[in-house]
Formats: sequence, structure tokens, C-alpha cells
Amino acid sequence: AWAKLAQAPEDPILGVTVAYNRDPNPVKLNLGVGAYRTDEGKPYVLHVVRRAEAALVGDRSRNKEYLPIVGLAAFNKLSRALAFGADHPAVLSNRIATVQCLSGTGSLRVGAEFMAQHYHTPVIYVPVPTWGNHNKVFPKAGLKLLTYRYYDPATRGLNFAGMIDDLQAAPDGAVILLHACAHNPTGVDPLPEQWDAIRQVIRAKRQLPFFDSAYQGFASGDLDVDAYSLRSFAADGGEMALAQSFAKNMGLYGERVGALSMVCATPEAARLVEGQLKLVIRPMYSSPPLHGAAIVATVLGDEKLFQEWKVELKGMADRIIDMREKLYQALVARGTPGNWTHILKQIGMFTFTGLNKTQVDFMREKYHVYMTGDGRISMAGLSTSTVPRLANAIDDAVRN
Ligand code: LMR
Repeated sequence: AWAKLAQAPEDPILGVTVAYNRDPNPVKLNLGVGAYRTDEGKPYVLHVVRRAEAALVGDRSRNKEYLPIVGLAAFNKLSRALAFGADHPAVLSNRIATVQCLSGTGSLRVGAEFMAQHYHTPVIYVPVPTWGNHNKVFPKAGLKLLTYRYYDPATRGLNFAGMIDDLQAAPDGAVILLHACAHNPTGVDPLPEQWDAIRQVIRAKRQLPFFDSAYQGFASGDLDVDAYSLRSFAADGGEMALAQSFAKNMGLYGERVGALSMVCATPEAARLVEGQLKLVIRPMYSSPPLHGAAIVATVLGDEKLFQEWKVELKGMADRIIDMREKLYQALVARGTPGNWTHILKQIGMFTFTGLNKTQVDFMREKYHVYMTGDGRISMAGLSTSTVPRLANAIDDAVRN
């Protein structure tokens, strides 16, 4: 039945790992997918996660029953509090419907399916560029996908005026996708005062902000600093949506643990929204997996583990910031043509280098350095010992 099927292309991000795994060269370096590595280049399981898992396994009263459709209640409550703050008025007045979903992507997809069915303006605006999967998730769910200007290649910074103009020109009521912090792939975030101006436009036009929060605490090392944007929107009392991922900040990539929160106008609306979200989830995957959510609930719910998590989180963020400094210095030391200060300025896991596709391919062929075709490198995949190799590859690529 499928012999004549078209050959599917590899995913632009996950496909980089596929190509990397096929490369037999021992010095190969994977800077494609955003996944944290230690300075020895190894995947990292957080100590607090190990401790939570040990506690869960040792607890003989636990079982493997199905979770409810909406997931683990304790996880939902704690995730909501982490994002918005435990004493936020919307939290205290039960105006937020939260459902556990399969990490960031699953939360975005469930939210988008819900909006396609139940939101009066099923149109979503995403920044240019944005995380590649956004461009697929939203149309698949039935939302019309449009874009707003965001990144300015000339300044390697935010095109703030272009963004504001495009939001003004977007229809009233449209859904606006916003990266809560550490914009992927550019690492360029609005400043707090720019966020405030963005919020004013979105509220004036009664648009619906839909935050993708994949890096809370991981960008700056501070959970509250990285929540500025979404908390400022939540503080004005308006409606909003939030997709939250624990892949990066708790290192739970493969556990697929995340949450969708819909901030509603009234507790009654939140109750109705939750009911409809259940109708989205049940025919899709019935109910979410237990283990990852139990880990997160254990860490967030225990004051001692929570404090230790913050220390580990800061350690990961600081190592990435250190890699920025080291890579920048290595390029300066080589006299590599161009201005590389954006490596220091960009926020979060990625550097949007400005290297073009030809240069990316050159570095893959000659140096076995793997990155996405748009010139994005995962700083978290870099280590003290591999910085010189990357700097040599970039230097050679830009001189070529
Ligand atoms: C990335 O952008 O590399 C990560 O968010 C992983 C993914 O799923 O693409």
C-alpha cells in the first residue's frame, strides 16, 4: 500500500542528531538539538531528579494506575504556581485551568486544538523566525498561521518597531504566540519596558497572548526573572494561554512533561475550559504519563529539593553563559572577521550565529560540527575542550 510513498524529509532540528549519529568521525560535535551537556559533553540528570526518583521508587504505596485525563493534580497546581507565582490573584481565584500535557509541544498542540474549536478568531501570529515546530503544530491543529516581524538580521537584535506595527495591523482578537524568554532560535528577547509596550498593544486589540515557556530559570538562572513577561501579562488580569515545558529546566527531555494553562476571565469559564480540554485530550492520547509529572511534583513540592533545584538550575545557566564568553574570546583571539558580540548578548541555550547555509554545510563537511541549517548553535552542547574546535571551524568558514 505504501511502496510509492514520497520520501519524508528529516526534521530540521531532530534530523541534525540523525546525521550526527551516522558520522563515524570521533571528533564530531553535535550543536543541533537544544539539550544540556556537562562540560565533559555528557547528558546530565539533575541530582534533585535522581533523589525524587529514588523516593518515588522506594514508596511502596505508589501504583501505576491511569492518571485522570487532565493529569496529576499536584503537578498541575505546582506548575501553575511556578509560572504565575503561588499567590497570584488569578491562581487564588481559580481562574486558571491547567492540564498536564506531553512537554512543550504537546501543550501547544492541545491548546491549539482547543482554540481551533472554541476560540472566536482561530488565527495565530508567530514571530519570524520562530522554533520550526511552531510552524507545523498550529496549522495541523487547525489554526491559520501568520507571522509578525521579530528579528533584525542587520542589528542581530529585536525589530521592535516592526513587531509593534505588525501586532497593530493584526486583526483584533487574533492569537499571538510569544516566547516567554530565551527566544528560540535567536536568543533575542524584548527588554522589560518593551514587553510592557507589547502587552499594551495586545490588550488594546483584545488579542490572546499564547506564551511558550520552555526555559524558565534556564535562561538567566533565576525563575522569577525569566517569568517577567508572562507574569506581567497575568498581572493585568486579562486572558492568556501558557504552554510550559520541563524538558530543559529539569532536564526531563524524554519524560515529556509539561502543562497547558488557560487563564480565564472567571472561575466558571476556567471550569468550562477544563471540560473542553478533556474532550481534546481523551481521543488524542487518553491521559498523560505519570513518571515525569511525579518527579516534577516531588521536586516542586518539597522545599529542600526545590531550593537545591534552583542551585542546579543556576549552575546549568552559568555554564552556558561561560561558554558564550569562551567562544567569543576564542574568535577574538583568532581575529575572525566580523562582529561577534551577539554571542555574549543573546539569551538562553542558543546562539543565532549569522552563519549561512553554505557555511553551516562547510563546517559539517570539514570539521564534523553539526548545527541547524539556519546557523543556530546550542551553546549547551559546547564544552571547554570543544570551544577551540568550534572557533577554528567558524573562523575557517567565514574566511572561505
Ligand atoms: C530545540 O529547539 O532544539 C529543542 O526545543 C528541541 C526540539 O524539540 O526541537
